Amino acid sequence: AKPMRRKIIIDTDPGQDDAVAILLALGSPAEIEVLGIVAVAGNVGLKQNARNALQVVELSGRTDIAVHAGCEGPMRRKLVTAEYVHGKTGLDGPTLPEPKIRLREQHGVDFIIETIRREPAKTVTLCALGPLTNVAMALVKAPDICERVQEIVLMGGGLFEGGNITPAAEFNIYVDPEAADVAFHSGMPITQAPLDLTHSMLTTRARIERFRGLGNRTGTATAEMLEFFERFDEQKYGWDGGPLHDPVVIAYLLKPELFQGRHVNVAIETGSELTRGMTVVDYWGVTGRTRNVNYLRSGDADGFYELLFERLATLA
Ligand code: BDR
Ligand code: CA
Repeated sequence: AKPMRRKIIIDTDPGQDDAVAILLALGSPAEIEVLGIVAVAGNVGLKQNARNALQVVELSGRTDIAVHAGCEGPMRRKLVTAEYVHGKTGLDGPTLPEPKIRLREQHGVDFIIETIRREPAKTVTLCALGPLTNVAMALVKAPDICERVQEIVLMGGGLFEGGNITPAAEFNIYVDPEAADVAFHSGMPITQAPLDLTHSMLTTRARIERFRGLGNRTGTATAEMLEFFERFDEQKYGWDGGPLHDPVVIAYLLKPELFQGRHVNVAIETGSELTRGMTVVDYWGVTGRTRNVNYLRSGDADGFYELLFERLATLA
């Protein structure tokens, strides 16, 4: 039997890798119904991230997709951004046209709440590709949604690979650790795609050329985005290519068999400045703490990229 079409909300701070994640979802209409996209402050400020989301939706040709703007900054901290990785616009690389579609009026947090309340219980999956501010604010404003969410699948954190913005912390969790703490304590089913997984998903030269060769504008723009995006991590790690983080969230929904995970407790460091935003992963079960996370430690990089080539080829 064909599995049910999965309804998702994408919460995002595009970001080249966020953009590829959005494109993967929009290129998979048989399995995934995108109910809407919500921008959050992260890689760059909210305004620019929202604009980037509109541009990515237009690039894909799926201009029917609703885009909302969410929170302008973290719950308790000053916003930290990552232009040094993603460029001045957050989406440097290709020249994308001025977006014609407009942001919806409704605040992104209210869109998340309303959508989850409207749809049947346990049929909406949250895909979080940036700091968890909107998700946490929605949980604070409407705790009832917690019971109704099917699952949250998020990119963030790490254990074996350490951090990427500090030695201890990954960017998305670091930017808003209090929001992450709310989400990880909520009781919602959580699947976490950490750096331990995404660091094996490298944008090699050969893979970028495959995107360029897809023969559509989405393929060309993706190649240009990833060429820009990888330069920072190539220099930092000395690898062939950069890790393509956020699309693993969507790939996990499409093909969970590509990934290996383990049920563990994950807690968020909010107290210390030194380790702010660290995901404390009880991988070996040394505490009695509740196993709140399906932690994806590894995956099949070739299978992941084949899925991306296949689905992005179907877009404009
Ligand atoms: C995460 O941080 C952002 O810069 C990327 O888009 C990804 O979501 C990786 O640490
Ligand atoms: Ca992101």
